[in-house]
Amino acid sequence: MVELAGVLGGAVLALTVVALHYAKGTGWEASEDISQEVLEQRAASVPETDFPEPYNRSIGGGGAAAIPAGGSEGELAEGEEGEAEEEEEGFDPDAIADDEVEYYEVEFAKEGETIEVASNEPLLEAGEDEGWDLPYACREGQCISCAGHIEDGPAEDYIRHSQNESLFEDDMEDGYCLTCVAYPVDDFTLETSESP
Ligand code: FES
Repeated sequence: MVELAGVLGGAVLALTVVALHYAKGTGWEASEDISQEVLEQRAASVPETDFPEPYNRSIGGGGAAAIPAGGSEGELAEGEEGEAEEEEEGFDPDAIADDEVEYYEVEFAKEGETIEVASNEPLLEAGEDEGWDLPYACREGQCISCAGHIEDGPAEDYIRHSQNESLFEDDMEDGYCLTCVAYPVDDFTLETSESP
């Protein structure tokens, strides 16, 4: 009888403690959400980049279009380094001295004429000087609006780009060039308004 009273007393005591615990709550509170603050701090710590937008090339999914064409410098022999650097940085037409300017015969197939273009004059400007309405947008080698096709490609056998942020090496192998930044190094036939 005494044992039964003890067990009952213990059970009542335990229930009372549990009831009191839940009545008071645990005192735990969710911590403040700081995720937005952390994101803002991280964004502020990343420096601005000045990568040019690849413009309309990226709309078609060519997000990697800004990768400049050209080989890896590490694989080149010493004598080829200067050439590779020029390719990577683009060639500077203003660096051609007046007495070193050369002229090439460029046949504009669609316009039905062959004109002389100087080695320091972009194909687009040479065509515009003839009064032809040729396509363009950025005039800086960053879109592909002005692209043209060199029938006898690869393009690099006939022109050099002062800047190219839109065409892949394969495109140039197939004869495509950006007429706004393409300067002749030989005679050739060009089809304007042709893009890869
Ligand atoms: S006009 Fe944009 S690349 Fe020539």
